[in-house]
Amino acid sequence: MIQVDHVYHDYEGKGIYAVSDISFTVQSGKVFGFLGPSGAGKSTVQNIMTGLLPVQRGEVRYDQYSVKALRTKFFNRIGVSFEQPNVYARLTGYENLKYFAALFSAPTCDPMELLDSVGLREAANKKAGEYSKGMRQRLTLARALLNKPEYLFLDEPTSGLDPATAASVRELIKAQRDRGAAVFLTTHNMELADSLCDTVAFLYGGKIAAMDSPDALKRRYGKRLVTVAYQEGESERVAAFDMDHREALVAFLAQNNPITIHSQEATLEEIFLLVTGKELTA
Ligand SMILES: Nc1ncnc2c1ncn2[C@@H]1O[C@H](COP(=O)(O)OP(=O)(O)O)[C@@H](O)[C@H]1O
Ligand SMILES: [Mg+2]
Repeated sequence: MIQVDHVYHDYEGKGIYAVSDISFTVQSGKVFGFLGPSGAGKSTVQNIMTGLLPVQRGEVRYDQYSVKALRTKFFNRIGVSFEQPNVYARLTGYENLKYFAALFSAPTCDPMELLDSVGLREAANKKAGEYSKGMRQRLTLARALLNKPEYLFLDEPTSGLDPATAASVRELIKAQRDRGAAVFLTTHNMELADSLCDTVAFLYGGKIAAMDSPDALKRRYGKRLVTVAYQEGESERVAAFDMDHREALVAFLAQNNPITIHSQEATLEEIFLLVTGKELTA
């Protein structure tokens, strides 16, 4: 379990906080998602948790141990995938994993099996510099999984990936969760968060604006929407209405040819907008 307790961070020591009063818990076998637009402070929090930035105020604990007191050996137990792919362009995918595996003083996975699991077996002997952005991203992810980490940090693991690749990354993360890893994920991809996270925290302006399971957030904040599928000429179309403004729905039904009517919960994206007043994909 990772416990983040009232953490603040001021990069320049001028009393301007990039993040403030951040508290949450990441449990083993669960995925915790940090959601927020660019500049919200997601990477700052990940960097404090993984010891890249000092804990200026507050506390981060792994089980009962403060991150401030952790020895180098502890880093055998965590896996980190950064926002920017960090692999050697002149080494092949396979050589990269071999190289990084050797840095651990703990058992590591077979590089070829890992490459296979991220869909890079065919490209194993190609230089990482010749990989596409999505391939480099998957290699970075494979690198983070080398030591079968108990604590896995993934910063924007699907940014810039096509939907099929993003879906395969999602399955990989699920497998890590299922083997018992505590997963800390930062993303501005609401669908990923919704389908993967046990708990999500909305981060905006360096503060947590809301935090709960996706379902609970939808129950608490989600206004119910009504969607109407209707016939227009030869094609079937969909229109959405807010239950709080039923007159528009009634007028629409009177003038159109409805096929089906569904009420549905608002999406996390809409709830983020409701809670913070800001769109997520900025
Ligand atoms: N090294 C740094 N020095 C000064 N300010 C920084 C630094 N890194 C990030 N910031 C600022 O901290 C805030 C949060 O940034 P970041 O954690 O990178 O957000 P996110 O990952 O959500 O996009 C932003 O206002 C950013 O400009
Ligand atoms: Mg970031």
